[in-house]
Amino acid sequence: MLQSEQIKEAAAYIAARTTVQPEVGLIMGSGLGILGDYITDAVTIDYADIPHFPLSTVEGHAGELMIGKLASRPVVLMRGRFHMYEGYGPELTAFPVRVMKAIGVNKLLVTNAAGGINTSYEPGDLMLISDHINLTGRNPLIGPNLEEWGPRFPDMSEGYSRRMRQLAAETAEAQGFSLSEGVYVGVLGPSYETPAEIRMMRTMGADAVGMSTVAEVIAARHCGIEVLGISCISNMASGILDQPLSHEEVMETTERVKSRFLGLVNAVVPLL
Ligand code: HPA
Repeated sequence: MLQSEQIKEAAAYIAARTTVQPEVGLIMGSGLGILGDYITDAVTIDYADIPHFPLSTVEGHAGELMIGKLASRPVVLMRGRFHMYEGYGPELTAFPVRVMKAIGVNKLLVTNAAGGINTSYEPGDLMLISDHINLTGRNPLIGPNLEEWGPRFPDMSEGYSRRMRQLAAETAEAQGFSLSEGVYVGVLGPSYETPAEIRMMRTMGADAVGMSTVAEVIAARHCGIEVLGISCISNMASGILDQPLSHEEVMETTERVKSRFLGLVNAVVPLL
């Protein structure tokens, strides 16, 4: 079955289960799916029940879609996302983004945990993604182009909306903290980077590194969705500190900054 048919079936399944027409899509990184607790009038649908939807396998990620209102804005939240290191092809990591588009979403907020490459960052900082470098060597748009979704060669000169970054920066200031802005480099994982790779990425102009987001954002831009991306700097990247990296540290930092992160998201979503 063509992916366009699968998207339509998944979208029809979801649309039949809610009267809310979501405008903003939310993809939350590790440990941040708890945003769902703030969603009112929520309908929750297991990924397993949605036709053609992949299933998430990594610790710290659930696997359900929530549709409802966040601060009165109609939203759809992905609790748990798909990473290429789980074995999914890039087209599958992009699938939920296209399903979101098919149910009416035209704005997307993506968040993630990332390793800080920029040495002025500290674990716990929040970084607005100004641009990305795709080092995964994969692209969700490889294959026949779905013309009804977007052009063969989509523009990526403003992958991350300037307008939305401004809104997020102002919102953070109003809440008493500032957001740094930087370039996110997306890698495949699942092994963390080597110190030599991190030095290379810094030379390239990257400020933070992570294993998600780039495929989702490429798929979103292809179909004309405006994107805001925010990284939680969960650890300093490999080789910066004299200590090994661990998923536990990533989860601990996310837990520590969760309330500030969720406060920002709650305040910014109605403005997008
Ligand atoms: N590298 C890659 N992905 C990550 C990191 C990291 O240091 N921290 C959180 N996600």
